[in-house]
Amino acid sequence: MKTQIFTIKEIKQAAQLISDGQLVAFPTETVYGLGADATNEAAVKQVYLAKGRPSDNPLIVHVADIETVEKYAKVIPDSAYQLMNHFWPGSLTMIFTLKDGVLSKSVTGGLNTAAFRFPDNDATRKLIELANCPIVGPSANTSGKPSPTKAQHVYHDLNGKIAGILDDGETKVGVESTVIDMSTDTPVILRPGAVTKSQIESVIGSISNNHHQVGDKEVPKAPGMKYTHYSPKAQVTIYDPKVDLSRLNQWLDQQKQPIGLMIADDQLMQMKLNSNVEVFSLGKSLIDASHQLFAGLRYFDDQPEVNTIMVQSFEANDLGLAYMNRLEKSAGGSHF
Ligand code: TXA
Ligand code: MG
Repeated sequence: MKTQIFTIKEIKQAAQLISDGQLVAFPTETVYGLGADATNEAAVKQVYLAKGRPSDNPLIVHVADIETVEKYAKVIPDSAYQLMNHFWPGSLTMIFTLKDGVLSKSVTGGLNTAAFRFPDNDATRKLIELANCPIVGPSANTSGKPSPTKAQHVYHDLNGKIAGILDDGETKVGVESTVIDMSTDTPVILRPGAVTKSQIESVIGSISNNHHQVGDKEVPKAPGMKYTHYSPKAQVTIYDPKVDLSRLNQWLDQQKQPIGLMIADDQLMQMKLNSNVEVFSLGKSLIDASHQLFAGLRYFDDQPEVNTIMVQSFEANDLGLAYMNRLEKSAGGSHF
């Protein structure tokens, strides 16, 4: 299969492919998604095959209005309407209990709930409207790889496996949406993301968190949280710029092999680097770093001589919680 790349001007063709049961990767404000008609079971099954995704890991249903959620969800609590009014369109995914038999087992991974999100991106909204169906969209990467923030990342992983990619340039946020379970009495954050716990609590009051790393035997609430994630080819190691910089400088100086270094600009100025260090800038702020994290990890995949990537940590608060959640998974526990 030849994977076609569509510009935003060609969005109608991309939408037609989705209506025809084909797979088309699409931009959102967080990361690129791998789109298929959520009501077409055969198409949804292809999404798992193209990504190599385990079948027990359910998909997010992308919508462009609240009515579609009302069509599928059995109960939508008032607090969820408040969150929709406040954060949609945007990077908040909400989980609801479903009416009986409304979405296929492939969408839900066999659960009686499903996750819904209205992305904050004009192209996504238009694509959903033109295709005239809700669109499932896991991140458009091969399972286990960093999520794609550019059309080229999608092409790299899925060329030949999907019908098309709708190219809208780089995504704005760079880390995936916050996933919150609204099917329980107290809402629970299952995956931290761009919408923070304190932003949510300012709208609906106290909620809880449940996104710690689980062991093999434990069943996590969000099935996706148990799988290895965000792994580039090289080993990722996390360093803390507050305490590790001088030791890092010494260590880098001793290395014979090329080392990748992902570092914010203000920290970079304090480094004395040899030519064996290949720098990828994380920019000026936590917002920049979150925007660039996955792109940086993928950048080093194109440099086969780099076997180790040192990546700086941020305080695990607010957006930093999402950044550190992705980075910790990518590093698989490796700290400098
Ligand atoms: O920003 C995003 O959310 C991106 C863009 C494309 O919208 N999508 C995305 O999808 O990150 P994915 O499939 O890579 O991650 C969805 C997460 C997984 O951890 C999955 O297990 C969880 O949401 N999830 C989906 N449906 C669920 C459900 N019914 N109950 C619990 N967790 C669910
Ligand atoms: Mg993903």
